[in-house]
Amino acid sequence: MKALILYSSRDGQTHAIASYIANELKEKCSCDVIDLAHAEHVDLKHYDQVMIGASIRYGHFNPVLDRFVEKHMQTLNQIPSAFFGVNLTARKAEKRTPQTNAYVRKFLLATPWKPTICAVFAGALRYPRYRWFDKVMIQLIMRMTGGETDTRKEVEYTDWEQVAKFAEDFGLILYKKSH
Ligand SMILES: Cc1cc2nc3c(=O)[nH]c(=O)nc-3n(C[C@H](O)[C@H](O)[C@H](O)COP(=O)(O)O)c2cc1C
Repeated sequence: MKALILYSSRDGQTHAIASYIANELKEKCSCDVIDLAHAEHVDLKHYDQVMIGASIRYGHFNPVLDRFVEKHMQTLNQIPSAFFGVNLTARKAEKRTPQTNAYVRKFLLATPWKPTICAVFAGALRYPRYRWFDKVMIQLIMRMTGGETDTRKEVEYTDWEQVAKFAEDFGLILYKKSH
């Protein structure tokens, strides 16, 4: 069995989550982890199931997500698939489900892709790594939403147990498919 995990990541957190999931699955199947921005030549026919993860920046997923889904919609809807979104809104537990996270809910309503399973993960806040403008903007958003405003700090909000559980669910689909 072979799985593909595609990620769209700007500062590395979604990539880290994708790699973590691949590592969790390594006993069950072989997993390719590929950047969605370099996935033009990926042939989904080589895979039994696919997962896509993408992060939010200023309210939007990277447009490569919609482009990939549009191009591969048929295959994506034929094989077991999974989607996860990563953002800072999800640092609040009540905004960490596909139904309660506005970005993921909106994406799922608009996309023709019907992923078998979905999740939302809290990302990371890494002020020292942001350029001046982003630092100021994120600090403003954090101030408005009651988050961390100390720009010397790096905070990882990702709940790795939640990620492990999602990897397990993905592995179960694979197991059910092969039995
Ligand atoms: C410039 C910038 C804009 C962001 N905009 C949003 C946003 O609109 N909503 C949100 O919930 N999180 C926002 N985030 C938080 C990111 O989604 C979070 O840091 C995530 O971990 C980034 O994942 P990545 O490293 O894979 O790109 C933003 C982060 C940055 C640096």
